[in-house]
Amino acid sequence: MRITRKTLTGLLMAVVLSAGVGTSPGATSGRIIGGKPADSARWPWVVSLQHSFGDSDPYHNHFCGGSLIAPDWVITAAHCVEATQPFDVAVFFGATNLRHGRGTSVGVRRIIVHPDYVADLFTGDLALLQLDSPVQDAPVVALVDTTATLTGSRAVAVGWGNMKADTDSPLFPFRLQQVELPIVSNTTCNEGFEQAQSLLINPIGSDMLCAGYLAGGKDTCRGDSGGPLMIRRNGQWVLAGLTSWGEGCASSYGVYTRLSRFVDFIRDAMSRDYFAAADVDQNGVVNNRDKTRQRQQLRVRVQTYLDECWQPAFSCGDLNGDRRSDWNDLEQMGRDTEADFQRWLREVWQPEKNTASARK
Ligand code: ARG
Repeated sequence: MRITRKTLTGLLMAVVLSAGVGTSPGATSGRIIGGKPADSARWPWVVSLQHSFGDSDPYHNHFCGGSLIAPDWVITAAHCVEATQPFDVAVFFGATNLRHGRGTSVGVRRIIVHPDYVADLFTGDLALLQLDSPVQDAPVVALVDTTATLTGSRAVAVGWGNMKADTDSPLFPFRLQQVELPIVSNTTCNEGFEQAQSLLINPIGSDMLCAGYLAGGKDTCRGDSGGPLMIRRNGQWVLAGLTSWGEGCASSYGVYTRLSRFVDFIRDAMSRDYFAAADVDQNGVVNNRDKTRQRQQLRVRVQTYLDECWQPAFSCGDLNGDRRSDWNDLEQMGRDTEADFQRWLREVWQPEKNTASARK
């Protein structure tokens, strides 16, 4: 592998970041530190992402936050759902207290992970979940309507994540918590990492946003991931960020997905024709045959690669950038193809839900 500044940063981040930032829902999540209980009904668009297996205790099954941005769409962080199929997740909405109180669970039809998401770098850390059925009278939150830096804005983060900076003995609240955090510039944030003698070199990319204090004390934490960072615009709360990552919790600034960078992607993802993409044989019905067909098409792609590219002298055979076409490239082709298939299953193919009548 060619070690570029980016890959080096990525490697370091993989080493430095706490175990909590894992890829499965079971491994992730953050709780608000230095905040206070949220007023009930103040943030009605905030949802809890839940494991849909095991018991049905919403407190226990919580793993990340999210926000309703349309009656049937929730936005969250990619790292919350990256390796998850829709039937493993439920969205719990209308709740403030996960142990005692109201709340309704709804299933998930599809999971769209941003294609630029890179786990080690935390770029493109957002995902969209389409719900099985739209929430009635959904209290949705608007997306930020400006590409301004937002530096100096006072923001509020909310979540059911860890309330203790000592992540070895976490305390997860029943009640939703909220905390006010000033947004700082990416430059200030990168300097903060340097001052804190972080091993990360300029980890804050243009699709990220930082909020909090150099000295820490107030922050999001494990279990808050995917939840909203909101600012006030023209008298209403809008979504400016998604809780994404940090070095530990409450030790310095927290890092959020900068939503202004993703507004077009979000609009596009919500209006795609998923039925057409699922109906691979184009017979008007989505069923197992479409799944088989999709696999076949991916196999053809691998075969074409073998026939036309996988030869020492052919540059199109070099998938991993080491200027050779060898077994490593073929393995890479296999992994990429399987990943594409899993992505298609997650985003598109839901036969029991994505029927002709559900076409939209
Ligand atoms: N994504 C992180 C996790 O699940 C937590 C969120 C943010 N951390 C922070 N220090 N602000 O571990």
